[in-house]
This record gives sequence, C-alpha cells and structure tokens, in this order.
Amino acid sequence: MNMYEKTTCIVTTGAGKKNALSIIVVGHAALEAPALVEDEAARLAAGDCSGPRTVLCEGTAYLLVKPESKEWLVGGEEWRLLGKQIVESMRSGGYMNARVSVDTTTEYAQALVEGCVLADYRLLQYRSGKAGKRKCLNITMPGHKQAVKNGMLVAEAQNLARTCADMPGNDMNPQTFVTTARKELRGLGLKIKVISGIEALTKAGFPGLVQVGKGSAVPPALVQVSYTPTAKTKKNAPHLALVGKGVTFDTGGISLKPGAGMWEMKGDMGGAAATLGAIKIIAQQKPSVAVTAYMALAENMPDGAAQRPGDIYQARNGTFIHVDNTDAEGRLVLADVLTYACEQGATHMVNSATLTGACLIGLGNNIAGVMSRNSDEAWRDSVRQAGQSVGEELWPLPLYGEYRSQIDHPHADINNTGGRPAGTITAGLFLAEFVADNVQWAHCDIAGPAMRSNGWRYYTKGMTGFVTRTFARIAQDLAARG
Ligand code: BES
Ligand code: ZN
Ligand code: ZN
Repeated sequence: MNMYEKTTCIVTTGAGKKNALSIIVVGHAALEAPALVEDEAARLAAGDCSGPRTVLCEGTAYLLVKPESKEWLVGGEEWRLLGKQIVESMRSGGYMNARVSVDTTTEYAQALVEGCVLADYRLLQYRSGKAGKRKCLNITMPGHKQAVKNGMLVAEAQNLARTCADMPGNDMNPQTFVTTARKELRGLGLKIKVISGIEALTKAGFPGLVQVGKGSAVPPALVQVSYTPTAKTKKNAPHLALVGKGVTFDTGGISLKPGAGMWEMKGDMGGAAATLGAIKIIAQQKPSVAVTAYMALAENMPDGAAQRPGDIYQARNGTFIHVDNTDAEGRLVLADVLTYACEQGATHMVNSATLTGACLIGLGNNIAGVMSRNSDEAWRDSVRQAGQSVGEELWPLPLYGEYRSQIDHPHADINNTGGRPAGTITAGLFLAEFVADNVQWAHCDIAGPAMRSNGWRYYTKGMTGFVTRTFARIAQDLAARG
C-alpha cells in the first residue's frame, strides 16, 4: 500500500509551456500585459470587481488574482491564500499549466508556492476510479529559484504530515508510522533509532508509552531522529529537541470517548506527524544547529490488557503517576520522552500535541496554545515568533503555579487529570514536571488548528499538519542565533 500521496501540484522555475495560463498578481505584476488585461487588473485593484478573474486576450488566457490582507493574516498567509485561488481556478478552468510572473519578496514568493501545494492536497488513496486520479498541475514561477525550492520542500513535508494524520487508524498505526518515517527520511543523512514493542520500551524506560499502548493489538514505539549539521559547531552550541504526541487513534481507552465524532481521533498523532515533517525539512535545509526529533507512538484502545482508571505507575524520572482517566493519555506518552530528550543533551525543547479539548474551547480552532515555565518565557516567545513568521498563530497561556494543586493526588505524586477548569494549563503543568530545569522548554497544544474537519484557509477538510512549518523555522532561528 502506498503510504503517502504524490504531490498533484508542482511548482518549478523556468519559462514553462508557451500556451500556459498567464497569472498576474494584481499590484505585483512583473510583466506588461495587453491593455485589455491591464484595464481589468486596474478594476480589480480598485475593488470594482472581485477576484480571481480570467481574461482571454490575443489567444492567451490570463488569470488575475489579488492578495487580500487582513489584520490577522500574518507570516505570508495572504500569499498562501492566493495560492489556493490559483490552483482552484486552474482546476475549475481545466488549465494544467500556468506561469506566475510576480514581483515580490522571496518570503512572499515562497508562501505563494506553499499555498499552491498545500491547497491542492487531497487524500486520494481511498478513492477508486476517476476520483482517485488527479492530474498534476504544473506551475512555473520564473526568477524565484530559492523561493520555489524552499516552498516546495516545506509544503511537501507538511502534506506528508497531513497524509499521516488523515490516514485512518486501520492503516496508520504506531508500526506503519515507523515504516513511513523510515521511508520518508531515507537518504537524507539522518540517524534513526526506533524502540518498538512493550518489552523493549519497558526495558528502555518508557512506561508511559507502555501504559497507553498495551491495550492495542499493535505495539507502541518511539522514533528518535537525529540531524547533525555538517559544519563543526561550537562547544556550547544549542541542541534542539522536537517532540510530538503520536496517538494514532485515541478511543479514550477504558475511559471510552462517546461515539459521535470519535473518528476524528485518527488525527491524534498530529504532533508526531508535524515533527516528522519538520525534521524532513530540516534535513534538506541544513541549518547549523543540532536537532533531534522524537515521535511517541501508541494506539489508545480499551482491552483486557489495557490500563485502568486508578492505576498507578512510576515514570522515567521517578514520579508516581495516578491514571485518573485513560483518555488523558497524551501527557502519559509524552512525559518520559521529555525526560529522555533532556538526558540526551537537549538545551532547547519544544513539543506539540493534540492534547486537550479544552484548548479548542479556550482558543478556538485557529490558534494553538503555547506554554512554558516562568524561567522559559523568552524561549516560549521565540516559539510564538517563529510561528508568526510562517503564518501559524500560537498564543501564550500561563502555567500558573497555583493550579498545580489541581493535579495533586493522595495516593501518588501526580494525577493525570485536573478537572474542567484550566484543562489546557493543568495538562501543561503535568508535562512541566518531566522536563529538566536547565532545558529551555515550550509546550504547544495544537488540538484546534491541527484538525479541521470543515476545511480552513487553504486547507481542505481534514488534518492540517499545523506546526510543521513552525518547528522547522524554530531550528532556522536557533541556528541564526548561533
Ligand atoms: N486527544 C484528546 C484531546 C483532543 C480532543 C484533541 C478533541 C482534539 C480534539 C486527548 O487525549 C483527550 O482526550 N483529552 C481529554 C483530557 C481529559 C480527560 C482530562 C480531554 O481533553 O477531554
Ligand atoms: Zn485522550
Ligand atoms: Zn489524545
């Protein structure tokens, strides 16, 4: 079975086909067009008509599109949205070839490329007949070599993350995720280590993955991927750890979730998927900083072998955890991996997880939460800044110390739930207990923007691969800091 989708929209540089659809970005045109087209562009620029518009002139088809800026569209988002206009117009008009002549910054040109490729993504492997065949769109963007190269590799990696998250639980489980990761990362010069199965994970000291994964017929696994920069780094150089929650399906376990909408929990590995996408980007962009990616993979199922509410076990760092609710499993699979990443020499760490429904209530569908201990606020802000530079919004929530008592338990050191109030924060406070004091750490709760079953911006219905771009950007920013 094919584990990933082939890109159905490819952007290249060069002149392209002679009869290609000629795309003009109003206000940013790089070429002079015939008077009739210029008139139409002026009307669009003045707001007399709305885009996108197709104009036929002297045997050439022109498509006029205009970026619409909004105060909340940051980090090139209006250019990604332009990409969506372009590919949708191409598909509806039956144009397979197009040329974009645009005069803009490298950053915006890259966002435009990303928008085309992200907007055209579809999960096709479960469509038979005609629906499963999607002809490839070919778009050229002369003069934007760097932007095209980066835009393609970023968007393709994000689409890989989306494919992993969109694939159903019967095909995407901890073991097939491992296979996919190995295949997708092959030949990129990365070191991959996999600890797989109950026995190996128990021996290696990952009881959280064991607790959550032992009710499933498919064994849990931990994937560790290391990127080492080619140039020698300084002695005290930073080492970035990226960690992702990879619950390939979350039934809730014995604390079973209600049936309605449970299918969406096939995307409960959005954190791990984005981490995979990000390390793939990093391996190709080669920033001068060491990065290790960790994907914590398990399927949360109810079964005779599953963990029970009330179970108590000891985490890697010695903390005794009371499992109040088996549906609060994300923090359990992450806890030991956070500890391990610190042991492995991380100086800076960021994790991402579809962790709490409460985050969706607090921040809605479009914004992720980002949390840190007081000592790591500067790092948290730089994570937020990285997100804003690539069009992904993460908003800070406080890990307010007084709320720590909500996860006290009389029989154990910590409880895995803290009640309804501040559910996102108490989950963050839980994770904080497993992070070493000397590591700069930030936690991203992506429960809202990772899963978009109704579509959003340039994303079709399904999973978005949210924070793939942010994570890759964090590595770049950290490398630039030196
Ligand atoms: N994967 C869910 C969180 C989630 C819910 C993500 C909805 C996306 C959309 C997580 O494992 C979970 O079930 N969390 C519980 C925690 C609770 C039991 C403390 C939740 O949010 O209800
Ligand atoms: Zn859950
Ligand atoms: Zn979950």
